[in-house]
Amino acid sequence: MTLRDLIERKRDGGHITAEEWRDFTRDLAAGALADYQVSALLMAIYFRGLDDDETVALMEGMLHSGRTLDLRHLTVGRVDKHSTGGVGDKVSLILAPLVAACGVAVPMMSGRGLGHTGGTLDKLESIPGFDTRLTLERAAAQVERLGCALIGQTGEIAPADKRLYAMRDATGTVEAIPLIAASIMSKKLAESLTGLVLDVKTGAGAFLPELDDSLRLAATMIGLGARHDCPVVALLTNMDSPLGEACGNANEVEESIATLKNGGPTDLRELTLRLGAEMLVLGRAAPSAAVARGLLEGALASGAALERFREIVAAQGGDPRVCDAPAAVLPQPPVREPWTAPRDGVVLRIEPRTVGRGITAMGGGRSTMEERIDPSVGFRITTRPGDRVKRGEVLATIEARDAASAAAGRAALDAAITIGDSAPPPIPLVSHRVSASGVELLG
Ligand code: URA
Repeated sequence: MTLRDLIERKRDGGHITAEEWRDFTRDLAAGALADYQVSALLMAIYFRGLDDDETVALMEGMLHSGRTLDLRHLTVGRVDKHSTGGVGDKVSLILAPLVAACGVAVPMMSGRGLGHTGGTLDKLESIPGFDTRLTLERAAAQVERLGCALIGQTGEIAPADKRLYAMRDATGTVEAIPLIAASIMSKKLAESLTGLVLDVKTGAGAFLPELDDSLRLAATMIGLGARHDCPVVALLTNMDSPLGEACGNANEVEESIATLKNGGPTDLRELTLRLGAEMLVLGRAAPSAAVARGLLEGALASGAALERFREIVAAQGGDPRVCDAPAAVLPQPPVREPWTAPRDGVVLRIEPRTVGRGITAMGGGRSTMEERIDPSVGFRITTRPGDRVKRGEVLATIEARDAASAAAGRAALDAAITIGDSAPPPIPLVSHRVSASGVELLG
């Protein structure tokens, strides 16, 4: 069977067998397939979709195209969290050390920012010296010792996914639910997890803004996890406005440290606790979400979570003094300018995509995987939808590298923040919980 046959079959709505997917992913990882044919197959999948068996076979082919982080000898639960990506979403930086401090191993594999969304690896690398490119052996040893490693997808893990993802990015075929689910799960299952918590963003700034798509993605990933004894729980969470105040890279590290010191913005802390509670229950460190929440709050209040973060930073080559004096260690923006309310009224919207694109325009994000970013730039948006504000009141700070970058940031905030006359209806931070037992609507 040639790749041309598979393209034609999928184009016409046919089924590709498990054996054919296995051969495809093997050849893809080996670099033996022509990009133009893989691209054509991707576009056929985008329009025709994959059935459940095809999704499983593609995911398994990508999983087995590389090595795995073998942690099966650990006696504690091994749970990771995956977010579909947002603006100001620095939850992983807080959650990983916090959950590890509560006794669940967190082999956390994260990504880089692309488009309007930020990436955990970029944020971590704003800490001088921090190395996210650990070998699998070093990552495993660190998880054994500290309960956590914060790493990126190396060429060793799911290399077929790495190639396919790059091609999807270049061909406008990222937003296909079976491809997204297979891609994420091939990497997560390579961490030999006993549980996975998904943070599926919904709303204006989400990768998949429609609720039905979010529910379908959650259900597909739950199904893939179930085939590998990895229970998956998904929380659908609000990305209609940025999470927390800091949006950028270094400033998000600073806000994460403030949260690990038992402070931080309320929405960021609350979402971290909700996701963390699911992780502790899946990792069998707590019998219920209520007990788990108590453990997490205790680890924030006692300083145990911050100490774990300090140990992880030091183990990965970063400067641990960032925990004591973040502003002295992290790169700082040369220019800081206030953004003030243009009129009296109520904040209606803080449009996350516009904020995220503003960070990219200032030099703090990337439009292609090859671009370098400036970690010092971004925004601190101290207002929230629903706040009553006065003309001239400072609602945000633009953190820029020069006057041109500040002007780009100002234009983005002018477009992103809308002030009107009456308060918008409140949107719940967590709207749904999805597990193998079904969908729960939350308040
Ligand atoms: N993240 C991934 O790893 N893969 C996708 O397809 C989308 C987001």
